[in-house]
Amino acid sequence: MSEVVLKFEKLTKKFGNFTAVNGINLEVHRGETIGLVGPNGAGKTTTIKMIAKILRPNSGRILIRTDQSDLEDLQKVSRTTNQIGFLIDIPAFYNMTAYQLLRYFANLHNYPKDQIDKRINELLELFKLTEWKHEKVKNFSKGMTQKLGIIQALIHNPEIIILDEPQTGLDPLARVEIRRYIRELQSLGKTVFVASHMLYEISEVCDKIALINYGSIIGFDTVENLAHILKTSELNCVLLEPLKPSELESLLKKLTEKLHPYLDHDLDPKISMIPIKYFPEQQGLKIFYDGQNKSKGEILKILIKEFENDFTVISFTQPKTSQLERVYTEMVKNNKLNNGVVRKNGN
Ligand SMILES: Nc1ncnc2c1ncn2[C@@H]1O[C@H](COP(=O)(O)OP(=O)(O)OP(=O)(O)O)[C@@H](O)[C@H]1O
Ligand SMILES: [Mg+2]
Repeated sequence: MSEVVLKFEKLTKKFGNFTAVNGINLEVHRGETIGLVGPNGAGKTTTIKMIAKILRPNSGRILIRTDQSDLEDLQKVSRTTNQIGFLIDIPAFYNMTAYQLLRYFANLHNYPKDQIDKRINELLELFKLTEWKHEKVKNFSKGMTQKLGIIQALIHNPEIIILDEPQTGLDPLARVEIRRYIRELQSLGKTVFVASHMLYEISEVCDKIALINYGSIIGFDTVENLAHILKTSELNCVLLEPLKPSELESLLKKLTEKLHPYLDHDLDPKISMIPIKYFPEQQGLKIFYDGQNKSKGEILKILIKEFENDFTVISFTQPKTSQLERVYTEMVKNNKLNNGVVRKNGN
């Protein structure tokens, strides 16, 4: 495997008493594309701002491998900007033209003066913005501005490219294009670190996904492995009438007893703490079972016969949604619960 170029060691950032990034450990190898995926407020931008040195960690550190060196503490490296390209906020140089803006950034990064124009033209061409070269950025659409932000991140030809929500504000077609550009960067051997709250959008182009929630990494692996590790089988059972809240507890208890032999008892707590759940919004039961077809038949029989007086099943299906997407949602949900408990205890 290629060498580590970026490493987080117990990286922590607090805002007052609030821990936004909580002891993150991660390693990124040269040429890898890593997705940092988590819901709003998970700590993605805070993490990226620490790589960009916009924020300083409270504890822990970020190590980076600059050109010919070993891994070094980012805080101690004075000139790293030329090796990393960032898309964090859309540049607000609205009164400049695209060309002026890109030239400004190329100069800032000490890109060879005689090559700047060629570089700008190439990138504008790649991102289909050539016609807009001399147009003021304030007249750009959101998607065009976002593309310009990405060009700005790439202008000095950095080895490591850090993108925060590159698909923000883009229509579906432009989002597909962003994935194409990321693949292009991969083919050039670049290391890409991309934050997104849209797992599905990003997983396709990433070698590995780091799932982040409440400032903690709750999973870091290839997309396939994440889905595999957390593999479980579930059944969704929609009911004719909603269950009465007053009877819910005893009913769930009875269900758990009657379905006991067929349930998944080694359920990963990251997915669910209990094998049967009721979702009032969907008027449905979710049953985590052992995955055997025979069990599925038995479960259905029991639900119909033994619960005749409790509810009527109108649909009984195995969801076909992306396994990983579901795992992500479940992980985030459970992590929220766990964190809620921790916080109440004064953490
Ligand atoms: N300067 C700040 N002062 C106080 N709290 C902050 C500050 N910056 C971020 N936070 C808090 O830290 C948490 C993490 O924020 P962050 O912007 O890193 O999330 P994110 O994962 O990028 O979310 P999003 O998907 O919405 O961009 C949030 O709860 C946010 O309110
Ligand atoms: Mg963010």
